Amino acid sequence: MAKRNIVKLGDEILRKVCRTQLTFDDRLHQILDDMAETMYDAEGVGLAAPQVGILRRFCIVDVGDGLIELINPVIIEKSGEQVGEEGCLSIPDKYGTVKRPMNVTVKAQDRYGNNITVKGEELKARAICHEVDHLDGILYIDKAEKKC
Ligand code: CO
Repeated sequence: MAKRNIVKLGDEILRKVCRTQLTFDDRLHQILDDMAETMYDAEGVGLAAPQVGILRRFCIVDVGDGLIELINPVIIEKSGEQVGEEGCLSIPDKYGTVKRPMNVTVKAQDRYGNNITVKGEELKARAICHEVDHLDGILYIDKAEKKC
């Protein structure tokens, strides 16, 4: 495993729409392993492929209850609402207040291409929404009500 550089705000990579990940090979597994190492090192709760310079639709999330790898994630259900502070490893030392659903259900594939369904509430729902947004070039600052 190896730590990767995190792309920072201002780099146009963060504004691109990512393409579907079609292969579930060693190369993908290596990138996912590297992303986990990078996220844990930076003490983040999520990281999306474009943040390490890869314009493909996958991301990882770990809010403290285990690592989730989401390949080609699609949020299929949202309910409730939460308003809270959010940050991003690509926008260091900044936070903003963002409204998100309280509960989400996401369909995706795992690293082997198997279909999976993941549910999240509270912080996990927030993190999933934030990371899936990254895959469409959307950053939390686009949705933040208050910036600090
Ligand atoms: Co982010």
